[in-house]
Amino acid sequence: MPQSHDNVRAMRWREDTLELLDQRLLPAEERWNRYRDAPAVAQAIHDMVVRGAPAIGITAAYAVVLSSLQHEGDLAAILADMDRLAAARPTAVNLFWALERMRPLVEAGATAERLLVEARAIHEEDIAANRRMGELGAALIEGGEVLTHCNTGSLATGGYGTALGVIRSAWAAGRIEAVHADETRPWLQGSRLTAWELVHDGIPVTLNCEGAAAALMRAGRVSWVIVGSDRIAANGDVANKIGTYALAVLARHHGVRFMVVAPASTIDMGTESGNDIPIEQRDPDEVLSLAGRRVAAEGAQAWNPAFDVTPAELVDAIVTERGVVERPDSAAMRALMSGS
Ligand code: MRU
Repeated sequence: MPQSHDNVRAMRWREDTLELLDQRLLPAEERWNRYRDAPAVAQAIHDMVVRGAPAIGITAAYAVVLSSLQHEGDLAAILADMDRLAAARPTAVNLFWALERMRPLVEAGATAERLLVEARAIHEEDIAANRRMGELGAALIEGGEVLTHCNTGSLATGGYGTALGVIRSAWAAGRIEAVHADETRPWLQGSRLTAWELVHDGIPVTLNCEGAAAALMRAGRVSWVIVGSDRIAANGDVANKIGTYALAVLARHHGVRFMVVAPASTIDMGTESGNDIPIEQRDPDEVLSLAGRRVAAEGAQAWNPAFDVTPAELVDAIVTERGVVERPDSAAMRALMSGS
C-alpha cells in the first residue's frame, strides 16, 4: 500500500539519540525532544510527551538501547533502567511486552548495536501489523460514518495506527463517508492529535465533545465506533481511554457496531478479565485545569482514571494482525493467540 495517508511519526532514532515528538505541544508546535538516557525517557512516557500503548512500548525498547550505550555492559544498571521504564505507566501492556522482548538479549549481554536491531524490529513489526489490521478492519465497514475516541494513529503507535489505521484504510478504499472524533477530555487527544493527524493526511474530520456521542448515534449518523486498546484481557474485556465504555454502551443501545483494533502485543493472556487490569489514576489537576489554567471552582476535587474497561459482550469485533475475532470471549481469544 502506498505511504499516502501516513506522514507522521512519534519517535525516531538518530545518531545514538532517541527523539520524541512532544505530543503535549501539538498541534500548536512540532518540537522534537532529544533523549540520551532511559530515566529521562521513563519520565517522558509518564508526562505524556509520547503516549498511546504501542508507541510507549516502542519508545521503551529504544530507551533500553540508550541504557546499554550509557552503562556499557553494567547489567544491574540496565535492569534498573528497565524497571524505571516499566513503572512509567501501568495500564498499557505493550510497555511490558516490549521490555520483556528486550530482556533476554540484555541478560545475554547483547551489544547496543544488537539491541538497536531489536528495537527497530519491534518498531517495523508494529507498522506492518497496523497496515494488516487496516485492511482487515476496513473490510468490515460497508459505508456510513464512523466515530473514534482518543488518538490511535501514527502518534500512538510505530506508524499508521490501530483504529485510525482502519479509518485510514477505509477512507482510502472509499468505504466510509465521514469521520467523527471525540475531543477526549482531559488531554484532548482527539481534538489535538487525531484531528491534527487526519487533517495532515487530507482526511476530513468532525470533532464532538464526548457528551455529543449519544445524540450523534441517535441521529443515525454512525455505523461503527472504532477504538484502540491499552490492554485486552484473556476473556476479551478491553481497557482503553476513559470514555470508551460509555461509547460501547451507547453503541449497543443504538444498534451501532463496536470495533476494537489492537496488535497481539496488546493482548494479555496473563490477565484473566478486565477486573484484573490496573487502571492508571492521574493527577486531578488534569481535570480541574485546561491548557494549564484552572477552570474548576476552587475547592472542587476530581476523579481522573485514564482508562476504563469495556466488557467483551459489548464488543462486536476485535481486529488484530492475526485475524478478526467477532463477539470475543475466552475461547475465541485463546484460539486467536494459539493460532488454532
Ligand atoms: O493516555 P493515552 O493517550 O496514552 O491513551 C491512549 C489510548 O487510550 C489509546 O486508545 C490506546 O493506547 C490505543 S493506541 C493505538
